Amino acid sequence: MTQPVVLHTVAEVHALREQLRTDGKTLACVPTMGALHEGHVALVSRGRELADVVIVSIFVNPLQFGVGEDFDRYPRTLDADVAALAGKAEYVFAPDVDEMYPDRVGGAPVPPQHAGPVGETFEGVSRPGHFDGMLTVVARLFDIVQPDVAIFGQKDAQQVFLVRQMVQTQQLPLQLEIVPTIREQDGLALSSRNRYLSEEERAAAVALPHALLAAAREAEQGGAAAVREAGIRTLDHYPLVRLEYLDLVDPTTFQSVSDNYQGPVTVVIAAKVGTTRLLDTENLERLHA
Ligand code: PAF
Repeated sequence: MTQPVVLHTVAEVHALREQLRTDGKTLACVPTMGALHEGHVALVSRGRELADVVIVSIFVNPLQFGVGEDFDRYPRTLDADVAALAGKAEYVFAPDVDEMYPDRVGGAPVPPQHAGPVGETFEGVSRPGHFDGMLTVVARLFDIVQPDVAIFGQKDAQQVFLVRQMVQTQQLPLQLEIVPTIREQDGLALSSRNRYLSEEERAAAVALPHALLAAAREAEQGGAAAVREAGIRTLDHYPLVRLEYLDLVDPTTFQSVSDNYQGPVTVVIAAKVGTTRLLDTENLERLHA
């Protein structure tokens, strides 16, 4: 199987973009931080269905990590990632930090993006500035790659909400495609950070999908408070798991819903298993007040 061509510079991506335009071909971009797993492969497969050519970006973005977070130990596995994309993506874009942020070396400034109030809730509470950094790199990527389609995973629900908001408010000329979460057999959402878990922690991490399942069951009859409570109660069985939040948000605003809310909701959960922070999410069709 053919391995993707690895591009390292903005100039190389621009040349590719020009060539594809000349050839009348469309381009799908899958932004990642590498350490690829089957969840990423699902995004790439969707890209292949929607465009003629797929480019996967691999860049561990320093702007979206806070002090004391896992930027230094985040897995960097470029060779394995490129091999995993053989026959699946035509190109990998793996820039270094100075290429993405040329202002660090006296080049043109990269416009910072601001997530606004939603960026300060949920993930933003324990990771201040995370979403500004994430949006800044995504906007920079879109500017470099100019994809027709960009593919993201549903697991990072707040990220998806904020990227969609940026695309809409800035009227960026691309289609956003969101792909459902891929799970292990026991329900754990695939994540590059799962590799940090010890055997014992890995067993306990199933608490997150179990909590979502309990919330979904309760939603067949209960209102927001009961659904929240059912999810949270599940975690009592998992002493290794420390809940950060479990809440129900209105998918159109990403605001916590009130107890008499009726309609579709997104359940979001974040918890620490040992030192590893995991996220998960589930969309529920409706709540009964
Ligand atoms: O979801 C991720 O892996 C990252 O937040 C993204 C979108 C690649 C930006 O760095």
